[in-house]
Amino acid sequence: MSPLTFPTTADSRENIFEALKALKKDDIPWKSGKVMAYIYKTIPEAHALSDEAYNLYLTENGLDPTQFPSLLILEREVVAMVADLLQGGTEAVGNCTSGGTESVILAVKTARDRARKLYPQITEPEIIIPETAHPCFHKAGHYLNVKVKMTPVDPVTFKANVQAMEAAITDQTIMIAGSTPSYTHGVIDDIEAIAALAQSRGLLCHVDACVGGMFLPFAKMLGYPIPNFDFSVPGVTSMSCDLHKYGYVPKGCSTILYKNKDLRQYQMFSCSAWPGYTIVNPTVLSSKTGAPMAAAWSTFKFLGVDGYKTAVKDCMDARDVVLDVLKEIPELDLLGFPEMSMIAFNSNSEALSVFELAERMKMKGWHIQAQLKSSVCDAGIHLSISHFNAEHMPALMAALKESVEELKAEAASKAPDPILAMLNPQMIQGLMANFQPEMLDQLEQILGSDDKGVPDNFVAINNILNTLEPAQRDTLLVAFMNKMFSVG
Ligand SMILES: Cc1ncc(COP(=O)(O)O)c(C=O)c1O
Repeated sequence: MSPLTFPTTADSRENIFEALKALKKDDIPWKSGKVMAYIYKTIPEAHALSDEAYNLYLTENGLDPTQFPSLLILEREVVAMVADLLQGGTEAVGNCTSGGTESVILAVKTARDRARKLYPQITEPEIIIPETAHPCFHKAGHYLNVKVKMTPVDPVTFKANVQAMEAAITDQTIMIAGSTPSYTHGVIDDIEAIAALAQSRGLLCHVDACVGGMFLPFAKMLGYPIPNFDFSVPGVTSMSCDLHKYGYVPKGCSTILYKNKDLRQYQMFSCSAWPGYTIVNPTVLSSKTGAPMAAAWSTFKFLGVDGYKTAVKDCMDARDVVLDVLKEIPELDLLGFPEMSMIAFNSNSEALSVFELAERMKMKGWHIQAQLKSSVCDAGIHLSISHFNAEHMPALMAALKESVEELKAEAASKAPDPILAMLNPQMIQGLMANFQPEMLDQLEQILGSDDKGVPDNFVAINNILNTLEPAQRDTLLVAFMNKMFSVG
């Protein structure tokens, strides 16, 4: 670690804020609206209101709702409003969590603890997910000691292959799941088929609507052809729905919902085996700020159905601009069909690397997300279009066309990159065969990094990662993270 020591003297408020603002200067410039991932924003008035509501409840502690009944009311009402959108009827219950990952972890915990109680013969519980499901299911499996079985998706539509899911069911299976939509391609799994399968085999069925839960209901109201995906579908037992994505609430806000209270009882945790205060928590966190719930409650009321419908319509129009322009770029192929404003495409040309395309776009001020090759599809580009991005789509597409033309023109005369020539796939495989975390130092010397330990050359890094198997990638990434948080 760095030689930094704890401050011995008090600093002024002015200096502190100056330093904080200076720290931000290398962050991705999201306020431009040209960042197509990470940030979800709608109109400035809603943003300002949610920030204010957030600050109003920043200090209140959700640890004990009996002492902060306002937080109990906010949580109940936020959950009820989301359950209403997702057709939960009068029976649905739920809680606010810190994010989609926590919501999914809780859904898996609930399934595991329910099986422990009702089906003690299940000793090695497993869940089945399509390979496009978000890694938070794997994180849940990792934390909770539940096996995660991935099943293939259709190679053209990228929707879950429900027959493959059925074939994967064993007497240890406790839950199956689908995504509405999957992050990668914006594709909605066939929830009616997945839930019917679950019901016919007596299994729980989780719908991961972290991305779509606050978007698809409004898209449906607007008349877009959105398949049934919520609690109206027989067999759906739980849903995760993030509010800090298309709900346009600040970070730290998701919901986990259950069809009824009976199911939710397995989510709870209580511990009275100590001499201190009573611990009984519905979610993973114990002490937690009330800020995200206050922000969600206020944003819902401020925007209402009409505000969200406007946001969804603008995002869908923006999606259509992208779909039209992609048809005009022969080197780029759309991946699947995005049923909402999350889009993926890849390159069919040797002369056009998607990693270089992402980098070239960055030089022009646009941040588009590179995706590595997987068992599902080749490396590609992902765009998440949220409301405040929508107006920038024509300019984004002009920059994309220009970048493709530039890279194609340069490809003809470009000398091979000496770094990539040195770090060829054979050499990388050789390194990985005897990988030691210290090797990252050598790699960093070759690839370069800034004074904060953040790599300079993402094209080379993505190219390296792209040649590796997922397990090898994870080894490298874990070592990298461990290193990056040890310097500075
Ligand atoms: C479909 C889906 N589920 C779950 C998550 C996890 O959400 P979070 O990053 O809020 O933990 C994401 C994140 O993008 C997602 O796209």
